[in-house]
Amino acid sequence: MPLNPEIDYGTPASKSKKTVTLTIDGTEVTVPEGTSIMRAAMDLGTQIPKLCATDMVESFGSCRLCLVEIEGRNGTPASCTTPVANDMVVKTQTDRLKRLRKGVMELYISEHPLDCLTCSANGDCELQDMAGAVGLREVRYGYEGARHPDPGIDASNPYFTYEPSKCIVCSRCVRACEEVQGTFALTIANRGFDSVVSPSMEQPFLDSECVSCGACVQACPTATLNEKSIIDIGTPDRAVVTTCAYCGVGCAFRAEMRGDELVRMIPYKDGKANRGHSCVKGRFAYGYANHKDRILKPMIREKITDPWREVSWEEAIQHTASEFKRIQAKYGRSAIGGITSSRCTNEETFLVQKLIRACFGNNNVDTCARVCHSPTGYGLKTTFGTSAGTQDFDSVEQSDVILIIGANPTDGHPVFASRMKKRLREGAKLIIIDPRRIDLVHTPHIQADYHLPLRPGTNVAVVTALAHVIVTEGLVNEQFVRERCDWDEFQEWAAFVADPRHAPEEVEKISGVSAETIRGAARLYATGGNSAIYYGLGVTEHSQGSTTVIAIANLAMATGNIGREGVGVNPLRGQNNVQGSCDMGSFPHELPGYRHLSETATLEMFESYWGRPLDAEPGLRIPNMIDAALDGSFKGIYIQGEDILQSDPNTQHMAAGLAAMECVVVQDLFLIETANYAHVFLPGSTFLEKNGTFTNAERRIQLVRKVMTPKNGYEDWEITQMLSNALGYPMHYNHPSEIMDEIAALTPKFAGVSFKKIEELGSVQWPCNDAAPEGTPVMHVDGFVRGKGKFVITEYVATDEKAGPRFPLLLTTGRILTQYNVGAQTRRTANVVWHEEDRLEIHPFDAENRGVRDGDWVKLTSRAGETTLRALITERVAPGVVYTTFHHPETQANVVTTDFSDWATNCPEYKVTAVQVMPSNGPSEWQEEYKELSKAARRIAEPLVAAE
Ligand code: SF4
Ligand code: SF4
Ligand code: SF4
Ligand code: FES
Repeated sequence: MPLNPEIDYGTPASKSKKTVTLTIDGTEVTVPEGTSIMRAAMDLGTQIPKLCATDMVESFGSCRLCLVEIEGRNGTPASCTTPVANDMVVKTQTDRLKRLRKGVMELYISEHPLDCLTCSANGDCELQDMAGAVGLREVRYGYEGARHPDPGIDASNPYFTYEPSKCIVCSRCVRACEEVQGTFALTIANRGFDSVVSPSMEQPFLDSECVSCGACVQACPTATLNEKSIIDIGTPDRAVVTTCAYCGVGCAFRAEMRGDELVRMIPYKDGKANRGHSCVKGRFAYGYANHKDRILKPMIREKITDPWREVSWEEAIQHTASEFKRIQAKYGRSAIGGITSSRCTNEETFLVQKLIRACFGNNNVDTCARVCHSPTGYGLKTTFGTSAGTQDFDSVEQSDVILIIGANPTDGHPVFASRMKKRLREGAKLIIIDPRRIDLVHTPHIQADYHLPLRPGTNVAVVTALAHVIVTEGLVNEQFVRERCDWDEFQEWAAFVADPRHAPEEVEKISGVSAETIRGAARLYATGGNSAIYYGLGVTEHSQGSTTVIAIANLAMATGNIGREGVGVNPLRGQNNVQGSCDMGSFPHELPGYRHLSETATLEMFESYWGRPLDAEPGLRIPNMIDAALDGSFKGIYIQGEDILQSDPNTQHMAAGLAAMECVVVQDLFLIETANYAHVFLPGSTFLEKNGTFTNAERRIQLVRKVMTPKNGYEDWEITQMLSNALGYPMHYNHPSEIMDEIAALTPKFAGVSFKKIEELGSVQWPCNDAAPEGTPVMHVDGFVRGKGKFVITEYVATDEKAGPRFPLLLTTGRILTQYNVGAQTRRTANVVWHEEDRLEIHPFDAENRGVRDGDWVKLTSRAGETTLRALITERVAPGVVYTTFHHPETQANVVTTDFSDWATNCPEYKVTAVQVMPSNGPSEWQEEYKELSKAARRIAEPLVAAE
């Protein structure tokens, strides 16, 4: 589509339900109360000249360009700061206004550098536009006088420049950083003519508090803050709206293109998940798509010690098919399986599980959710009847109390965190349950009311203690429970949590959180109005992950905080399409739509649609596949877009399992760590090169649109289709929309979903069917999906992974803002300037005891293995707890994580590993060996023709 920039209405939309009617330039217009005159005029198609106003931030009224005349009022008020009133009569264009506006523009232009022709914003500059709009033809003051301060260009940020000489001090950037992003990194330093935008304490952007979200760059009307890509490439000439492929927030972007080259990603204001905001990953970190490491040709090799050999697509697909057939003939139908990708589209994921069930003839399919949110699926299905979060993101605007447990939204889900921070600045209360002092505990203008820094592994005890307070202090919403939940089960649960062993005073001994804090947090959650729970992997990645999810659901039901806006239970999903990959039937026991294989009628429906008998026995989960490989009964695997070697626990065990297989097929962008053990490499396509849909953490299905042709030749679904055809199970889809039609035909929750509907509505939240033709923003409104809400007893069982004399510290892991998951993409972007390596956070007390100084190499040892990395001494972690990220393969943090896992779902216990930390001189033996192996495993033989 043509570029067509989004309309800027000048001021934010009013949410008022009341309306006001006024007349602007002789035409009547009716708008919500509280709307500015500027915005009301835009509704009539009249663009009042403006510079300091933009609809992403509240109006400020500093430039005086947007003046209007109002009948019966003196002077010329600014239309951006003046709200409409009934019967108001406004004129936007009179001789007086024209004269005044020209005067304002003359002053701006007289001190602005006149290098328009070579300016990177030429053609995309509001100052230029406004000079034209007001008819400025001459500047009486000349161009030679004093100019705005020019301390030189700050190019320290890898993605944008700051050129103060071009600044008109409109403060749009400062307000965007405050209101939209909530970081407060910018101020206007000095006064009058010397005013200048200052990151932190007049530091370069890179050294400041700036988190590179890009909101200020987007807000800037001139070239003062400008994307480096615009400077390098020039302005775009077309735009395609698509969805970010990084995290589960699911931000919509306009991919702005020049020819086949991506110029920049601009957050889409109509994106219902992000409302025009972005984070550094989606906004800027897309360069991996063109990185030199990207593999574009299929490759095969006999043994993993051989160098790779480039082959044609035909040969790669035929070779894979014949290997899989050979293995099944020799070792049986169940000897192969596959892993779907939570980074790929719903359609691609659906096709992989279909390939496995209908063509491989078994259910050996699993996905990365195994290692992240599988307990969410289990816990929420058990209690509420459906395996997903209950709210949309907008819901947070109605929350009075926000309880965050085991999540770090400012790093993991930054755009949603910004929306959360806005609500908190408006006065919502905040409870944080986390072993670390995450940023939200204390950030500009936000201070958590309660922080419960619990000992890793004690979630169930703490959440049950919250329930104890609620039940024993009479804070239960009895009416809600009687109407909506099973009363007998509730009573049984209430008696259980009321037991004195669950009292905060007892739980303090286990968790390390003071009883007083637990009591205060429980009272606030139960009585503070609309209370919403947001949680992450700090809940699920435990041996009792499913139990904690259930305990959270119990808490919401007991207090009636479910089934309306502002409340609910909300898992913050990690990868862009992890919700979708689960929805699409990626688990070995469930068909798409979370229907168990034992549901005979459903199984028969799939058999009839797919024309193949299906196995009714659940297949192998990822850890079972690896164990079976070591036993010799599992020999081949098709892995689409997932680096199980780096992301799954106990790396050495995983490596041994992969090495024991006869045909490991990896479909990915790069030679990822798992590919070190692969026999076939099928180059994948990026999200920019494909059509399809992603489903975000709020069940929102959004379109991914192809903005360029796949450099590898095929979209990922086409590769799966070719493999299926080669294996003798024909697939003939022409477009992913046809796959979505099949999903809709087979899955009641998706019955009303189609590409056409998503195009029309912008996005759809499932369930979407006859009962909810436009989707379901908030779930369980009139009743739980399962009928009555189910209270379940949550007995706390301490993990077997215990700190002791050999391993006295508890390691917990997580991620940071600028990197994503195993880092395969973000490490191949300029984001590495913020995070070149994984560091071990350690409390000063523990560091001193071990003679460790900040930046020292330390050896991190557990029962499973050891690795080395550098120490970061910080009080963000409590004494006895250490923390690291897992973004860099050199560190291989998962070498030390253990095989312990959630009792219900096998989700690994990443968040609790007993470890010892000691000073070290350098990499561990495993790291050295792995480095060598990696180097050898990535050799690509010279093509024969070139060699000749
Ligand atoms: S990029 Fe974002 S965080 Fe940085 S200064 Fe701009 S708005 Fe603030
Ligand atoms: S940097 Fe841009 S947005 Fe910020 S004050 Fe200057 S011109 Fe306005
Ligand atoms: S918050 Fe998530 S979806 Fe949004 S831009 Fe950042 S990484 Fe992408
Ligand atoms: S746009 Fe209204 S005063 Fe600047």
